[in-house]
Amino acid sequence: MTNSVVVGTQWGDEGKGKVVDMLTAKSDLVVRFQGGANAGHTLVVDGKQFIFHIVPSGILYEDKKCLIGNGLVVDPHVFFEEIDKLDKAGITIDPERLSISSKVQIIMPYHKAIDAARENAKGKAKIGTTGRGIGPCYEDKIARTGIRAVDLTEPDILEEKVRTALKEKNFYLKEFLKADTLEPGPIVEEFIALGKKLEPFITDVSVELDRAVKEGKSILFEGAQGTHLDIDHGTYPFVTSSNPVAGNACAGTGIGPKHLHHIVGIVKAYTTRVGAGPFITELEDATGDFIQEKGKEFGATTGRRRRCGWLDLVLVGDSVRLNGLDSLAITKLDVLTGLEKLKICVGYEINGEKISERPVSLKKMAACRPVYKEMPGWKDDISGARSLDQLPPEAQAYIKAIETLTGVPASIISVGPGRDETIVVNYPS
Ligand code: GDP
Ligand code: IMO
Ligand code: MG
Repeated sequence: MTNSVVVGTQWGDEGKGKVVDMLTAKSDLVVRFQGGANAGHTLVVDGKQFIFHIVPSGILYEDKKCLIGNGLVVDPHVFFEEIDKLDKAGITIDPERLSISSKVQIIMPYHKAIDAARENAKGKAKIGTTGRGIGPCYEDKIARTGIRAVDLTEPDILEEKVRTALKEKNFYLKEFLKADTLEPGPIVEEFIALGKKLEPFITDVSVELDRAVKEGKSILFEGAQGTHLDIDHGTYPFVTSSNPVAGNACAGTGIGPKHLHHIVGIVKAYTTRVGAGPFITELEDATGDFIQEKGKEFGATTGRRRRCGWLDLVLVGDSVRLNGLDSLAITKLDVLTGLEKLKICVGYEINGEKISERPVSLKKMAACRPVYKEMPGWKDDISGARSLDQLPPEAQAYIKAIETLTGVPASIISVGPGRDETIVVNYPS
């Protein structure tokens, strides 16, 4: 009955989907706690690829319950598209298998319109959002004007809320962003219909989790994005609008902190970032291209080319502290095969001084230079390795260096996208 949390330690796309899918085998319930369809979590099972944006990555296990916590912002269209896709793949999803919190915030058409128009207006200064309406939806949540799943089941309240919201949103869209305005009527109609479809899936996630805890079941909490995209702790303002850190697994689902037992931090063997923002170990050269191509580093949500660079353990070290990591899952180690030399960033140098934490000021961050530890690479294909001793000594040394420099042991090593392309050192317990 170990309850584990899976979080990204970098800027997202670390391979959370694959690890959550794997760990679901040892869990009874899987619950997402933040983010929305900005997430793109990829699983490859029996050679078939699945990408999930809202639906938890444990959904392929028939007998496990998947839950969408109150901390998410959900676009009902994306939710039903994912269910339809699964249906076409022969996987039938019903409320027995998947439920969504009544308190979840709903992404409305005006959130997407504002996200797009605002990015457009920012020009070069844009964040490079996924355009899914994430920021504007979380803004409404905090402003206490958001629309929750429960509101979709109460048409009179929904109508009132949409009409009130649009008075302000249309003014902002038209006068400030010089974008098209929206009519309330069709939106209300559309979302009443979506509410009818959604109603059977709506539940009280907190109550379900409490029941599971009392029955001695194991819960797996699936984070989205990564620690350095966290609204509070990330490279602000180049961040998302939620808290991907492990502590939010509680607030984002309605469970107390004493029920979290093991926090797994996913560390990609190198670093990537989609969208704008500082990236100290970025490689804008042939090595960066090699990693990008070999790692197939294209956004799972937007298809954008991901920026690539060496592993930055300053970032991961911050994530150890911010999440209280118990173990690491090191992913995509196979992508580094073939590189003669590898570099790990072990600190930053700023004005002749070496620092080991990422500065909060972006101005200071821009002045930082990476301090590297160089390590030898390996040539042999490692995707068939299923135990640590089957890895070349150089790959073993690379893992050891990560463990030593972060002070956290590795529980999982991933050597390919497939569910079975994994070395399990030990399951979180
Ligand atoms: P997430 O957002 O953290 O779930 O990660 P994404 O799914 O956006 O990106 C990770 C990508 O790497 C996906 O295409 C995965 O199928 C793939 N992947 C995961 N683990 C490995 C691995 O160990 N090796 C390789 N080559 N690919 C992997
Ligand atoms: P997963 O869960 C990588 C990035 C966007 C942008 C910034 C803000 O697949 O790891 P937003 O649309 O959230 O307002 O965009 O955050 N971003 C991600 N980058 N992986 C993700 O999710 C991301 N979700 C958001 O690229 O820079
Ligand atoms: Mg992703």
